[in-house]
Amino acid sequence: KKKVLLFGDFGIDDSIALFYIWFRKEIEVVGIVADYGNVSREKVLRNINYLKYISGQYDIPVFAGAVIPLTGIEPEYFPNVHGPEGLGPIIPKIPSDMELPIHYTEDLITIIKPSIQDITIVTLGRLSSLASIFIWQLDEMDLFKEIIVMGGAFFYPGNVTPLAEANFYGDPYAANIIIRYAKKLTIIPLNVTQSALVTPEMVQQIDEFHQKTKDPVGLMIKPMLNYYYTFYSSNYPGILGSPMHDLLTIDYLIRPQDFKTSHLPINIVVSRGTAFGQSFADYRPKPAEGYNVHNVVLEFDYDLFKRTFLETFLQER
Ligand code: BDR
Ligand code: CA
Repeated sequence: KKKVLLFGDFGIDDSIALFYIWFRKEIEVVGIVADYGNVSREKVLRNINYLKYISGQYDIPVFAGAVIPLTGIEPEYFPNVHGPEGLGPIIPKIPSDMELPIHYTEDLITIIKPSIQDITIVTLGRLSSLASIFIWQLDEMDLFKEIIVMGGAFFYPGNVTPLAEANFYGDPYAANIIIRYAKKLTIIPLNVTQSALVTPEMVQQIDEFHQKTKDPVGLMIKPMLNYYYTFYSSNYPGILGSPMHDLLTIDYLIRPQDFKTSHLPINIVVSRGTAFGQSFADYRPKPAEGYNVHNVVLEFDYDLFKRTFLETFLQER
């Protein structure tokens, strides 16, 4: 099994990415770091514990990650996209005797060290916690197998500003640390993930299946994705479904050979102003010096994505 350490701001597409892992069974989650982002860090922690409780996956260690970005700017949350609690219309309630233990992110490397070389880091949110670990334990970070990041946009437009994508814009200082110091980094940017659309028809088909299996995880998919689609259909007129930004990282991890990638010299704007948080690649044949080169996903096979998504969720967990 592939071992994964997840960082995320468990919102809707983060949670669907986690469900995807649970349904596919070829990945082991060795830990989850809860970051502020779509909602507050407290809500993200609570959401992860709720998902553990609903799914029966009690053994996954959960770490309390960042509450604010390295920029010091107060975080902006997105209840209009992800719901007031981050899970669409669902109000997560955990029985009081089920409160699950939470680790400090400071202890993360120590806890996972024995298998660090086999672990891929996958980030689904702001990079504040991961960048903090780079600051504290830079040498150890090279020991990880690989880092896969959902974030940035390497062609126009952004989503949170005309130029910037939410995960990079939320903490450009943190994203800059990862771009500067990470080795073996793959970035899956917004300009790619925005095409990973799941249609209401696909969601309906999955829901009908789980009405029969009565799987509580499977039954969360429809309310969450319908909520998400309400946002997307009213803000992106004519859009055919909801983009599974975060889930595409897991799809890439499972079958990287099906994705078109390129090694590109990349950079991010960290000075305040209109372009704050904008990421860009130098596409010129002779790129500027001093940019770090990373693996950036350019394209994926949408039909294959759709088929795999349906196959995954149209089975018992
Ligand atoms: C990213 O922002 C969040 O809304 C999503 O969860 C995803 O990680 C897309 O820009
Ligand atoms: Ca996310």
